[in-house]
Amino acid sequence: MYDFKIDGSDTATMYRDVASALEGLTAGEPDPIANMANASALIWESLPDINWAGFYRNVGGELVLGPFQGRPACIRIAFGSGVCGAAAATLQAQRIDDVHAFPGHIACDSASVSELVVPIVRDGELIAVLDLDSPTKARFTAKDEAGCLALAEILARVL
Ligand code: SME
Repeated sequence: MYDFKIDGSDTATMYRDVASALEGLTAGEPDPIANMANASALIWESLPDINWAGFYRNVGGELVLGPFQGRPACIRIAFGSGVCGAAAATLQAQRIDDVHAFPGHIACDSASVSELVVPIVRDGELIAVLDLDSPTKARFTAKDEAGCLALAEILARVL
């Protein structure tokens, strides 16, 4: 068992600590499922006020559910569909204050209100997206987006 005890009170420090823990957890491990599993558990334990944290993988041009923490979720998402599909189609992070106002949002857990999805890209190819949900409106700030993009850079090397 790993016990990282990350303090979530200062966002920038928290993401720095999560990134450092993620580097340690994935160092030398080539298995992408193991790395996504540990990454989702680390994020779930470290970030305050989230109700889902996990991955959708690019499997032949379709997003397919990967390792996650939270309630069981929809399994397949087309590129361009919902918040995850928008991130996959544009390769741009999607930070949504109120998912109910997002056209085509896919509701996996009715408790989710805000969402942050960052693409994980290697050599211009989408590998997966990292998806975070929160029950709080506008939970994710620009600092969260920057922090998760930094995590996505680490993940791009180990997935
Ligand atoms: N809400 C997402 C679907 C995935 S779940 O949040 C886990 C979307 O609109 O793409």
